[in-house]
Amino acid sequence: MAKKLIEISHVNKTYRDKTRGDTVALDDVSLDIFENEFVCVVGPSGCGKTTLLNIIAGLERFDSGSVSMNGAPVVGPGPDRGVIFQQYALFPWMTVKKNIEYGMKYKKVRRPAGEIDPKTNAPREKTEYTKLTKEEKRALSEKYIKMVNLQGFENAYPKQLSGGMKQRVAIARGYAVAPDVLLMDEPFGALDAQTRAQLQEDLLVTWQEEKKTCFFITHDVEEAVLLATKIVIMSARPGKVMEIVDVNLPYPRNQATKLLPEFVEMKNRIWNTVYQMYLEVRK
Ligand SMILES: Nc1ncnc2c1ncn2[C@@H]1O[C@H](COP(=O)(O)OP(=O)(O)OP(=O)(O)O)[C@@H](O)[C@H]1O
Ligand SMILES: [Mg+2]
Repeated sequence: MAKKLIEISHVNKTYRDKTRGDTVALDDVSLDIFENEFVCVVGPSGCGKTTLLNIIAGLERFDSGSVSMNGAPVVGPGPDRGVIFQQYALFPWMTVKKNIEYGMKYKKVRRPAGEIDPKTNAPREKTEYTKLTKEEKRALSEKYIKMVNLQGFENAYPKQLSGGMKQRVAIARGYAVAPDVLLMDEPFGALDAQTRAQLQEDLLVTWQEEKKTCFFITHDVEEAVLLATKIVIMSARPGKVMEIVDVNLPYPRNQATKLLPEFVEMKNRIWNTVYQMYLEVRK
């Protein structure tokens, strides 16, 4: 039985605005996320997807209910959660390598007693948690640059990269901090169809290798069915979890998976559900 990583229980969130009035963004939202799951969230615009992700990330407060991760309540951001935004959010003045290493700045790793301390060259007397060394950071950034196929661009600046390449840097940075879960808010939303297809496949390969839990928001139902082990369908006004669908298609998945009859059937069914809700919201 997989371990429960995140528990969202009866969460309510209303944005209060004196001039525009109140907006109920989340209404009694409950959701469990287990280790190694790839959870995709779909739903019409404004149904509270980003709000939910920001709450899990610890970037947004909520009014009632509870959110916990590894059994402890979420009270703010932390290195156990890596966030990848739609707009790559890279530092323009830093190279690819520096952008990836930046995320590791605050990361601490466990150094067991007895292990040689490189500073003193003697075994540690007790177990400690210390920051990564320069060499460790370099080794990790090299690993993840390779993972996202950006070898040769280590010293390039973001402005020298295409949109897809920038998003790869953001993904590498997300993985490099070794969080327990990657929270991704429409990370491929701004990309052309070919780059998006390529990054979907890269992400699937990485997910299968690293077995890192993913929480992934998308507008694109086809993308959700391709990636997810579990799809959360949200409805709008107020934002609620309407349905949770297990996607039992085998991995490895790739663009050819989209041709399977089971894939097409599931995609159409979920798409119709989301479209019906969209029509309801427009009324
Ligand atoms: N900071 C804010 N202040 C006031 N209202 C907000 C704020 N952020 C979001 N909202 C409102 O809360 C609701 C949910 O917004 P949210 O951004 O979570 O939706 P979403 O599902 O991510 O939409 P999209 O698919 O368009 O990104 C919307 O009605 C939005 O107008
Ligand atoms: Mg959003």
